[in-house]
Amino acid sequence: MKILIIGGTGLISTGIVKALEGRGASVTVFNRGRTENLLGGGVARLAGDRDDFPAFENAMRSSGTWDAVIDMICFRPAQAESDLRAFAGRCGHFIFCSTVCTYGNTQAVIPTTEDTPQNPHSAYGRDKLACERVFLRATADGALKATIFRPAHTYGPGGIVINSTGWAATFVDRLRKGLPVIVSGDGHGLWQSAYSEDVGVGFAHAAGRDKCVGRAYNIVGGEVVTWDEYTRRTAAAIGAPEPRIVHLPTDFLLSVDPVRYAPLAEILRFHAVYSNARINGDIPEYVPAMPYAEGVRRTVAWMDRRGTIADAGSDPADDRTIGAWERFSAGAGAGS
Ligand SMILES: NC(=O)c1ccc[n+]([C@@H]2O[C@H](COP(=O)([O-])OP(=O)(O)OC[C@H]3O[C@@H](n4cnc5c(N)ncnc54)[C@H](OP(=O)(O)O)[C@@H]3O)[C@@H](O)[C@H]2O)c1
Repeated sequence: MKILIIGGTGLISTGIVKALEGRGASVTVFNRGRTENLLGGGVARLAGDRDDFPAFENAMRSSGTWDAVIDMICFRPAQAESDLRAFAGRCGHFIFCSTVCTYGNTQAVIPTTEDTPQNPHSAYGRDKLACERVFLRATADGALKATIFRPAHTYGPGGIVINSTGWAATFVDRLRKGLPVIVSGDGHGLWQSAYSEDVGVGFAHAAGRDKCVGRAYNIVGGEVVTWDEYTRRTAAAIGAPEPRIVHLPTDFLLSVDPVRYAPLAEILRFHAVYSNARINGDIPEYVPAMPYAEGVRRTVAWMDRRGTIADAGSDPADDRTIGAWERFSAGAGAGS
């Protein structure tokens, strides 16, 4: 198979390339050459910016035909329309990387399946849903044969280790030093993480599969844990002491520092539990096999090598928040 990936050197797409090579596919990636390229020498590369629509579409039209095109970095309907101009009639199968944020995260019934109504409440989710509709409409019209993937949280080398309140680069250092770490709410929120190379296998084995055309798939981790357990497992995996978890009400975090804790408002305050049942049926090669402890060790080893773990002392925001809570609690106690 001859396969083109728009992106290709990113967190998930690196795993896709590896899995496609395992299938014996001939892989080409299209990107700007800014992201570190961890791919082997057998992968061809086309250089360009997908947001320069005329140049992108011309380059794609003159690149020939593809058995499958996988777009990992389409975020807006204008980019989806550009894909249609570039690839309609020139690819056997088109795979679009969407997100579970298209459902909206206010999960009243869990797990979320692909039949759950999509009511995204973030601009990111709304735009991804609009892109899904462009591709599904083109499929219904016979212009393209598209498949939609909706990953949830996906981590691995090349990415970061998130925490229950956001993406702070100090989280790993705070764990290592035994400093207090904030877990929002009572720590019972549910979370589901997938390893990037596992997710890559799912994408790779969808390519060229007729039964996947016109279908959308959740592609998520195999295990659901509470945020307390996530925090404890992360600490144990990297040899840090038992974490000093401080539970703080989500509304308090958002009122005290709405910018720092913005990911809570959009995503992290909600349960994240999604069903893999459909993908398990149609793409049985997708198996979320990586144990979290090993996956996070590899991620942190990569972060250590790249120096992307920030020193806890460089970022006082969480200590400031814990201090504010202690003053608030002391005041509430005095008033009662
Ligand atoms: N990780 C998660 O938790 C998660 C969850 C849900 C959905 N997703 C979805 O996963 C996708 C991200 O895939 P990924 O992890 O492989 O990507 P990534 O780590 O974000 O890397 C982006 C890739 O796209 C290339 N790129 C970026 N801007 C470009 C442009 N304007 N023109 C051409 N190439 C460009 C980058 O290379 P250059 O910088 O060299 O151009 C790189 O290869 C997104 O669609 C996201 O919505 C991720």
